[in-house]
This record gives sequence, structure tokens and C-alpha cells, in this order.
Amino acid sequence: MNSQLYSKLPADLDLLRLPQHVAVIMDGNGRWATSRGLPRIAGHRQGARTLKELLRCCKDWGIKALTAYAFSTENWQRPIEEVDFLMLLFERLLHRELAQMHREEVRISFIGDLSALPKSLQTQMERSMTQTSNNQGIHFTVAVNYGSRNEIARACRQVAELVQRGELNAEEVNEKLVEQHLYTTSTPEPDLLIRTSGEMRLSNFLLWQMAYAEMYFTDIFWPDFDRAAFHQALLNYQGRDRRFGQVKSTLSA
Ligand code: FPP
Repeated sequence: MNSQLYSKLPADLDLLRLPQHVAVIMDGNGRWATSRGLPRIAGHRQGARTLKELLRCCKDWGIKALTAYAFSTENWQRPIEEVDFLMLLFERLLHRELAQMHREEVRISFIGDLSALPKSLQTQMERSMTQTSNNQGIHFTVAVNYGSRNEIARACRQVAELVQRGELNAEEVNEKLVEQHLYTTSTPEPDLLIRTSGEMRLSNFLLWQMAYAEMYFTDIFWPDFDRAAFHQALLNYQGRDRRFGQVKSTLSA
């Protein structure tokens, strides 16, 4: 890795021990807005700016993948105006930012049950995934109408169908095979999960993929999660001893 390339990396961060993949649960948009006397949607708008800035920061600092939880399968239960606003926001942002992201070598993926989303949004999503599929700068994944249990059940169903059709023996079902049927197949798993706004839950996000992820929780509301806050999260991450269930001496041997 060429440290010259990442000259913007703060001096107290170790380039060789950066997480390769960061996942974020962007929580606290509503509270950020209400605490300022603004409507909740103003928090989402600001939250989208924060995400854009984080993506740029990850790219500047040499992090290879960022995954953001934008809309869960449970989020449909929010007031209809808020759901409609979020759908419109996703579509507008994609429309507005796609060309720039493509120029910056961002590869975009959407995970979740996209079939339930407005048709025009699905079209934009498909177009952005196709257009950017060969980009090598950073892999940016957005989870929309995503739920981890649903994803795992879907993978089980697909595997069961293969067995039912006689294309697979039940004994051949292993972790690798299940992984091949997740939305995230061929994406390395997250090393670090960040959740903002003081909540300390996974909320049905990447449960399988984050078996060994380090978790970082902060009280900062998502719209305020800036470069300095991300820097703090990375410093904290670099202070962790990642053993993956082994003892340290085994890993370093
Ligand atoms: C959680 O905060 C946030 C959301 C459910 C929406 C997140 C979406 C964005 C930040 C827009 C991102 C845009 C793209 C294109 C991915 P909350 O509303 O639950 O906040 P609260 O807990 O304070 O109510």
C-alpha cells in the first residue's frame, strides 16, 4: 500500500491497521432535527450530506468499503409522509450524485428487497449499479428495505430449492455456501460497525456478516458525525485487540 496516496490520513492513524470495510447505522436524524426545532425530514437531508462526506473521507483515507443502513424493513411503519420523503430523497440523491460518484471511481451496490420500492427508484438503482460495477475506488453499499433475518431466510430458501431440485446434497450445505446466497456475496465482511445517537443495538443489520466486527457506539447524532468523529472512531478501533476467537499468540505466530 502506498502511504503517499493517502497523505490526508491523520498522522496518529496507522495506515496498515485501518478497517477495510466500515458499516454504519445512521441513527439520530429525527432527534437532531427536533432539537433544532426543525421537521424530522431536515435531519434526513442533513444526514445524507454527512453520508456523502463520510464516503469521501473513507476514500481519501484508503478504506475500501462503506456500507450504510438507509432504510430497514421496519421503517415502513413510519408516518407515510416521512417514508415518501425518504424514497424521494434516495432518488433525488442518486440522480444528482451518480455522475460525480462514477468519476470518483465509486462502485455502488444496493442490498435489500428492492422490489417493494417505487419503480422509478428501482430503475435509478439498477442504472447506478450497472454503470459503476467496474469502479475500483471504493465499494459503497446502501441497505434499503433491508432486514438481516429476511436475508438469511431468503438464502436458506434458495439453498433448499437447490436441494429439492437434486442439484445439491444437504451435506454440502456449509457457511461458504450460505454466504454465496446472501446479498453481500463476494464482499468482505465489515471490520467496524459504527452506530450513532447513543443506541447500542444491531437492529437486524448484517447479523451474519458482522460475526467478528468491532462495534463502536457514540452519542453523536448522525448529522453531526463528521471527519473528526470518524477519526475518533478509527482511533478507538485501532486500540482494539482483534482475535477472531483465537488467542493473540496464535494470530501473531
Ligand atoms: C435514522 O434516524 C435514519 C434513517 C431511518 C434514514 C437514514 C437515511 C439517510 C441519512 C439518507 C441517506 C441517503 C442515502 C442516499 C443513502 P432516525 O430517523 O431514526 O432518527 P431518530 O432515532 O432520532 O428518530
